[in-house]
Amino acid sequence: MNEKSTAHDVFPSNGVATVFGASGGIGQGLIDQLRAEGSFSTVLGFSRSSSIAFNITDEASIEQVVSEMLPYAAQMRLVIDATGVLDGGGCFAEKTWRQLDAAAMAKAFAVNAIGPALLMKHVLPLLPTESRCVFATLSARVGSIGDNHLGGWYSYRASKTALNQLVRTAAIELRRTRPQAICVAVHPGTVATRLSERYTKAGLAVQSPATAAKRMLDMLENLKPEASGGFFDVFGRPITW
Ligand SMILES: NC(=O)c1ccc[n+]([C@@H]2O[C@H](COP(=O)([O-])OP(=O)(O)OC[C@H]3O[C@@H](n4cnc5c(N)ncnc54)[C@H](OP(=O)(O)O)[C@@H]3O)[C@@H](O)[C@H]2O)c1
Repeated sequence: MNEKSTAHDVFPSNGVATVFGASGGIGQGLIDQLRAEGSFSTVLGFSRSSSIAFNITDEASIEQVVSEMLPYAAQMRLVIDATGVLDGGGCFAEKTWRQLDAAAMAKAFAVNAIGPALLMKHVLPLLPTESRCVFATLSARVGSIGDNHLGGWYSYRASKTALNQLVRTAAIELRRTRPQAICVAVHPGTVATRLSERYTKAGLAVQSPATAAKRMLDMLENLKPEASGGFFDVFGRPITW
């Protein structure tokens, strides 16, 4: 059973938290932190390898996994989408336009933008209409157009930019029926995971998944409904689009 702590008490008691992408470095860090803190009565985690599995590129599997959340819908207080891909599985972190490949680009968009949009399509209507509830999806600062000074990573960057626009658009629709709900894109910072291991350079401030998870949960706890539709780092600082 979860140990009770004073952390995250802004989320009403007996709440349920759900993490999609629970098998990833950050997803697992979030699950561990949520269970250790015990601020939520139930913590659900889904991934491609969970007993009820989903693939974010397969809408039917998203629908199926979201149906598992139905019994908890009234208590749902926090949903985090921690899925995503940079390279591998048909995606590339391109250094130059010479490496652009239509199939690889489409795959990056399918996982990083279209998949989370379909997840929002099925999850956001389940959120409570009267209570505070947070939906966060993991984006990346490199998806910021204004912050792009280095170039490279065409597909990853552009798919995260698309994700940011989808989050913003969904947040506007969500506000109409759920004024207390918050829907945001979050840059976790550089975190030591499978996704980043080939790219973390000396000098970069690399966080452990546990540190990133703790910072993210603290930040999400403090977001107000006015923040919905925004793009934030783990300290709650807005990131330029
Ligand atoms: N690590 C960083 O420094 C960093 C920086 C900025 C943004 N981010 C973002 O943070 C998020 C999490 O990344 P991470 O660092 O934790 O990477 P990770 O350890 O590689 O985890 C990625 C997660 O995404 C899941 N996933 C990938 N393709 C999927 C699919 N088709 N269907 C369902 N799940 C799928 C993986 O599932 P499997 O275990 O089944 O592969 C895994 O759970 C990503 O959106 C990433 O872009 C990370």
